[in-house]
Amino acid sequence: MTALGPLTVVSNRLPVVMRQRGGSWKVEPGAGGLVAAMRPILERQGGCWVGWPGVVEEDGQGWAGGLQRAGERAGYALEPVTMSRDQYEGYYEGFSNSVIWPLFHGFADRCTFDAADFEQYRAVNQRFAEATMRCVGGEGLVWVHDYQLFEVGQRLRKLGHRGRLAHFLHISYPGMENYAKLPWRRELLRALLAYDLVGFQTARDVRNFVRCAEAFGVGGVLRHEGGEALLVAEDGRRVEVGAFPIGMDFQGFSERAASSEVEERVRALQDEIGAYRMFLGIDRLDYTKGLIHRLRAFELMLERHPHLCEQVMFFQLVVPSRENVSEYRSLKREFDRVVGRINGRFSTSGWQPIRYLYNRVNPVELAALYRLAVVALVTPLRDGMNLVAKEYCACQVDENGALVLSEFAGAAAQLGEGAVLVNPYDRETTADAMARAVQMDEARRRIRMRSMRRIIAESDVYQWAERFLDRAVEGPQPGEGFATPA
Ligand code: G6P
Repeated sequence: MTALGPLTVVSNRLPVVMRQRGGSWKVEPGAGGLVAAMRPILERQGGCWVGWPGVVEEDGQGWAGGLQRAGERAGYALEPVTMSRDQYEGYYEGFSNSVIWPLFHGFADRCTFDAADFEQYRAVNQRFAEATMRCVGGEGLVWVHDYQLFEVGQRLRKLGHRGRLAHFLHISYPGMENYAKLPWRRELLRALLAYDLVGFQTARDVRNFVRCAEAFGVGGVLRHEGGEALLVAEDGRRVEVGAFPIGMDFQGFSERAASSEVEERVRALQDEIGAYRMFLGIDRLDYTKGLIHRLRAFELMLERHPHLCEQVMFFQLVVPSRENVSEYRSLKREFDRVVGRINGRFSTSGWQPIRYLYNRVNPVELAALYRLAVVALVTPLRDGMNLVAKEYCACQVDENGALVLSEFAGAAAQLGEGAVLVNPYDRETTADAMARAVQMDEARRRIRMRSMRRIIAESDVYQWAERFLDRAVEGPQPGEGFATPA
């Protein structure tokens, strides 16, 4: 790890969420790829994590002590940013999750553009900037994460922050046609160009961003080659842009998967499911994850390959997410309906093709599920990276599983050859790919799994952070192609 010392990380979510259960405040782990990736980095390096503790001002302050103790246990400070219920609704449910999230994943029709929400987004970004100033005192590198906080860099500069500022976007960046629909398209481009370094998951995201900056005349493009670009902001500052595909804690996951505790749990689960070969899906309940498409492809697989009936089963873990946003509530109802229909159609007295759990599971259970699955189905309609794909491979310590992976996940650019790639919109070929994966001969499965595990181990989350932070601290180095801008 880079010799940087303690980090200042800013993200909407802290690694923990404070929840009121039975009259007292409980600390629960936060869900999602960002938290999963950043938690081990902060644990290793220490510092301060600025973020939202999952409560609104109207909830009172009873959670503050519990949060502080959670920070002490974790070994880094947790700096909470609070907001009113109105601000939360406009900033988080409104602008972040009903505008940027759908738009950046290519679902412009699901966007609800509302100027009042954008105002709340700006007000809350200001709060995050003020909390960050309290943490760093205007000096040093600040690493801001994701789409909820585009404007924090700009606002830190206005508040007088003198250190370098970096931003990493965990989700994909949209193509020009989609981005163009955003009423505040120039404002958000300007916001990103306030940083010294802007990181994306893939070269494609970098390309999309550069094209949008060019198209809307915000900043100039000095260079752009593959996954790297150098732009000049309107105030003349140079802004480095690059692809930094995020990794995960490969060693941590592999070691846990090989532990006796997990082995015991794998045996118990195997007893429960019997001899069936298990397909596994693990996703937040989100329309970008392609859950309904996946169910329908699985259904078609059973229809077209009837010999697989009573040979396989599909276990889907669905992690509750954004339950106050209406798009998410209706997805839950549709998911239940489709699962019921498929089970009704194919079940026999001793066999039910699909089982699902709508909940969170602990790390041991998660590793056991990953180990047990003969095939993991990671078939989002669009995804920045998708760490489930990588976690599955890391936990496949027997190197015996197959990964069916969407072309539209950032992970496909890295794992492409080892995975069975699918277009999740194409039900027929996805169904056949699922059948192929579960019937693949063991030798081929092993070769492919081994190659994916090698790639994931060689670009784990620590190396990702080191590469990003080195770049953020130092800027372009002589000889790296971006040192002497034209
Ligand atoms: C994705 C986003 C994260 C977000 C996570 C969970 O991974 O990139 O920024 O935290 O989803 O979503 P939530 O809205 O619950 O934070």
